[in-house]
Amino acid sequence: MGKDVKGRRDFIGMALGGFTAIVGGIPALYAMKRSWDPLPSVKAAGFTTVDLSGAQENVLNVEKWRGKPIFVLKKSKDMKTDPRDVIVGKDHFHVSIGLCTHLGCIPAYIPNDHKFKCACHGGEFDASGHQIFGPPPSPLEIPPFKVDGTKLVLGEAGPEYKKMLDDGLTV
Ligand code: FES
Repeated sequence: MGKDVKGRRDFIGMALGGFTAIVGGIPALYAMKRSWDPLPSVKAAGFTTVDLSGAQENVLNVEKWRGKPIFVLKKSKDMKTDPRDVIVGKDHFHVSIGLCTHLGCIPAYIPNDHKFKCACHGGEFDASGHQIFGPPPSPLEIPPFKVDGTKLVLGEAGPEYKKMLDDGLTV
């Protein structure tokens, strides 16, 4: 009799243990899966949408896209237009990754001179991002973008950006 009772207890103990493991394991597995999935903020991090409707002429806005500074400059009427301009309605914008193409410093915008100046080694770029002085070997890079009404979607290669790539206006 003692053996039967012990055997039954062992069986109930194992059954309960297994049940507890299953019940406890499901939430643990779910929690583990959730911790592996990218956060919604990470999923959305590939794109940055910038509303250009409130942009002021000759005032540099610095946005952030994938951890990089992005220059967005609405050109004033007295500034030269350029094939690298992003055209939204009737307005011309300069849009570029705000990292000097020499060694990666962030150039400052000088509104009175309509140019970007890099403090690291004195490199300069005009308001269209062309290198005009000093060691930078190439123009400021243009990030992938798409124009969507008055918005600019950074990170999505729209037809305007693809044409710039095809024309060799950026890398
Ligand atoms: S990093 Fe800009 S000029 Fe050298």
